[in-house]
Amino acid sequence: MFLRYSFSLFNIWHLTIFALFFVYSTVETQSKFIKRDSFLDRTNVPKNILAASPLGGGSHLVPMLEILKILVVRGYNVTLAASGNFTANSESYRSIPQIIIGNETGTSLMNEEFAKKVFLEDVDFNIMSKVFDPELYTKFYNIYKRITEEINVDLFFCDVGMNEACFDLAWQLEKPVVGFASNPIYASIPPSYKSDPVFGCHVNMENETFYERFKCSIIKPLQFMNVFMTIGNLLNEQRVNVGVEPIWDPRSRMKNILFLFDTFFGFEIPIPMLPLHQEIGPVLADTYPDLTPDLESFLNAHPRTMYFALGTNVFTSPQNIAILLKSCLELINQNIIDGVIWATVKTNITELMSFSNVDFPISDILNNNYPHIHIIKFAPQFAILSHENTKLFLSQGGASSSHESIYTATPMLVLPIMGDQFGNAEKLELAGIALKLSRLNLTFDDTILKIKRLLSEESFKNNAKRLSFMAKLNSKRKYRAADLIEIVMNSAKYDSIEDENGNLKTNNNVLLKDWITADTRMGFIRGNYIDVYGTFIILVLTLIGGFGYALLKVVKYLYTYYKARNSNSKSNTE
Ligand SMILES: *[C@@H]1O[C@H](CO)[C@@H](O)[C@H](O)[C@H]1NC(C)=O
Ligand SMILES: *[C@@H]1O[C@H](CO)[C@@H](O)[C@H](O)[C@H]1NC(C)=O
Ligand SMILES: *[C@@H]1O[C@H](CO)[C@@H](O)[C@H](O)[C@H]1NC(C)=O
Ligand SMILES: *[C@@H]1O[C@H](CO)[C@@H](O)[C@H](O)[C@H]1NC(C)=O
Ligand SMILES: *[C@@H]1O[C@H](CO)[C@@H](O)[C@H](O)[C@H]1NC(C)=O
Ligand SMILES: *[C@@H]1O[C@H](CO)[C@@H](O)[C@H](O)[C@H]1NC(C)=O
Repeated sequence: MFLRYSFSLFNIWHLTIFALFFVYSTVETQSKFIKRDSFLDRTNVPKNILAASPLGGGSHLVPMLEILKILVVRGYNVTLAASGNFTANSESYRSIPQIIIGNETGTSLMNEEFAKKVFLEDVDFNIMSKVFDPELYTKFYNIYKRITEEINVDLFFCDVGMNEACFDLAWQLEKPVVGFASNPIYASIPPSYKSDPVFGCHVNMENETFYERFKCSIIKPLQFMNVFMTIGNLLNEQRVNVGVEPIWDPRSRMKNILFLFDTFFGFEIPIPMLPLHQEIGPVLADTYPDLTPDLESFLNAHPRTMYFALGTNVFTSPQNIAILLKSCLELINQNIIDGVIWATVKTNITELMSFSNVDFPISDILNNNYPHIHIIKFAPQFAILSHENTKLFLSQGGASSSHESIYTATPMLVLPIMGDQFGNAEKLELAGIALKLSRLNLTFDDTILKIKRLLSEESFKNNAKRLSFMAKLNSKRKYRAADLIEIVMNSAKYDSIEDENGNLKTNNNVLLKDWITADTRMGFIRGNYIDVYGTFIILVLTLIGGFGYALLKVVKYLYTYYKARNSNSKSNTE
């Protein structure tokens, strides 16, 4: 009875509230609206940006230039310092002035012989690190310094690859600096469950044995410690030359500054990230070169085409190319695929022509006399991947190729050759969009089997479509990247000090205080709460120990007591 009464009372109460809301909201709809003010006051915000990438090359420069183009539209003054004559020869980025700081690099930081060793042999991190040339530090430091004397640089935008000089100069001149990399591994120590094949481990250690996890989190880092130390020492010698204090923690120049990573969840191994570390990828251009009429008619005539390209920097052995071509022929014979487009780029065709170790007409193919295989030196990659008849991409797994393949929902067969490509291959495989080959153990049967799987199993296409959706939405984040750089510039407007020459000086340790987490200021022990948890553990152990001790005493006492009583009663009965 009472229950029913209160229930109806509740209903009346409810209705009253509802009616009140209704009246209120009608009243509100009758009032006028104002537009939210989104005007940004950019007056007196520092405007000169120097972007620097000693490695140069499309894969490093294109994502940076895409972000810089947005900043140019917003009124910033942008200059690029990079190797190779890039922007002048590019239709999309011609508007950005470039200072050429070296010959086209990418891989030409290595000489040809060394590149061959790295691409064709089994090299570990130790050998890879030989690419590192400490003299380049001083060279680039001085170049950047000269540039800053000509243009009054307000912010440095530094590509992470071999670019310590850029970060150091920014700290030295007390100017804000933003880092750029394709992989978070370059700027922070990843959690133990993330590693990388360049260290002989896997990108995701989740299901590895105890032995593997021990090896990859303890032994490998110790093993490569001396490599890092050697590089660090060599760098410090160069630093002294140009008047920079030696730095013992390589990441200290990357601390407390904004870092942008051209990657995205779905592709990247998920890890917790600092607020200062922002994923803004995949950064892609808005327009790409279209298909040539030749390619267009080839693609239209071949509804199951595989696109084969190893990117602009790397190549593989003629033996491997022969295996891949033979596999293509077999798959065409079996009618699994009906066309192949191969962008040869760095592959030495002359060498391949004279390669006699094969049982198929390789010169016919290389001369483009075989109707199902179309060979060109450079290809409009994005347009080919976007074509509905391109069903598969045989790639080296470079970051930008991977992003483009995901964006266009094209499953991949990955043949990683160097650097981050091994890790990318694993990530793509884990994402369920790819299978990978081994350049040192490439076989005809394995290649055939994997291509058949990629084309017949529905899951690859499904995952490709799922990831494509993510890539498309996340590709808007280049605007976010530009926003974040603007926020740094604007903070510098408020938090810089003018010196006697009218130069703005910024303290990079506190400029981005809104993003910097407290633990970085608290020191290792307090920051990780080791003092608090340590004390807690000691307390618990003491309590457990004390309790155990007391228990032991009681048990011992009872034992002797009963023993004494027993023997007493025994002697009584006797
Ligand atoms: C931008 O660059 C141009 C040319 O270098 C220069 O004349 C101009 O003053 C710069 N603008 C700002 C705001 O520094
Ligand atoms: C860079 O390329 C442009 C356009 O091809 C050319 O005009 C210019 O001379 C080149 N600069 C250098 C330093 O080679
Ligand atoms: C670039 O290469 C040319 C010839 O290959 C060489 O003469 C020149 O010194 C190089 N320039 C730089 C900046 O390394
Ligand atoms: C590890 O195994 C679990 C359970 O089988 C699976 O869900 C997960 O995807 C695996 N992770 C990796 C990196 O293979
Ligand atoms: C290609 O290989 C041939 C024969 O091995 C060699 O003579 C030529 O220099 C190579 N070309 C390039 C660009 O490496
Ligand atoms: C080479 O690959 C085959 C399978 O394709 C595998 O059975 C073999 O163990 C591999 N060899 C090496 C040395 O990795």
